[in-house]
Amino acid sequence: MLLRKNETIRKMISETQLKVENLIMPFFVTEGINIKKPIKCFPKIFHLSIDNLLKEIEEIDKLNIPAILIFGVSGKKDKIGSYSWSKSGIVQKAVKEIKLRFPEIILITDVCLCGYKSDGHCGIFNGSEIDINLTLKYLSKIALSHSDYGADFVAPSAMMAGQVKAIRNVLNKNGFNNVGILDYSAKFASNFYGPFRESLNSNPKFGDRKMYQLDYSNTNAALKRMEESIKEGADIIMIKPALAYLDIIKIAKQKFNVPIAAYNVSGEYSMVKFGSEKHIFNEKNIILEILTAIKRAGADLIITYHAKDVARWLKK
Ligand code: PBG
Repeated sequence: MLLRKNETIRKMISETQLKVENLIMPFFVTEGINIKKPIKCFPKIFHLSIDNLLKEIEEIDKLNIPAILIFGVSGKKDKIGSYSWSKSGIVQKAVKEIKLRFPEIILITDVCLCGYKSDGHCGIFNGSEIDINLTLKYLSKIALSHSDYGADFVAPSAMMAGQVKAIRNVLNKNGFNNVGILDYSAKFASNFYGPFRESLNSNPKFGDRKMYQLDYSNTNAALKRMEESIKEGADIIMIKPALAYLDIIKIAKQKFNVPIAAYNVSGEYSMVKFGSEKHIFNEKNIILEILTAIKRAGADLIITYHAKDVARWLKK
């Protein structure tokens, strides 16, 4: 135990350091002015209008958090999710304003249809099957529209086969070779997405997402998906959720030579927040333990709603 006898020696031999540079903070942006609307199952996370989002990003910037991930919250839903690629769409407007004010921040946009489609699904159904070509066409339109306004990375989260290839092609054709793709490559059909779906009002109206998201009992399917994603041109691959999938993160880190991002998702976040409120956990200690474990498993980047708190704690 001599290597653990005091803080100094423990710090000297600590193998894993969480750094603010590893963090990506997600935000939900919505239409309107001066809006900061709470979400019931998602403590301290809000729907923000662009003016309030810019204030938040000012804080992010001061805390030296290098990157943000933007989701649009839209009341305008239709069968195909057409508002998602609209020039006057909420994400498009937000991206433009953010880039004007904060050109240095790494701006990542989520690319999916589920928040904009009336049925809440990530793809377009033709009868009981997904029309993959049409879905890829629409996903590419979204990615292109975000790039048009200045996104640094697009992050396709629909888990549609070929989404990276389709998006890469369209971006390159339009001269956006310098826009990166952070692919949600190993995204599992998980029970940890509850607060997020409340936020986007995107619970599927029929069935579930098991037709396109991965089965949580499978490692090989996840590895295959990540391999394809890299082959198709993903710059960064993502594993999601994080905490119940540390084994997948670890294997991915050993096997692949692109940066690995892990998404510490909404349900993981809210579990810790509510648990801390009930004094089951010391909030700071449990969050640092969880995020360090995600890093130790092999994540280079961590997308987490705790990013602001963590940045403050790491500063001290
Ligand atoms: C779907 C999407 C999901 C999340 C981000 N994009 C999950 C889903 O509804 O299947 C989850 C993020 C979180 O829970 O924090 N496009």
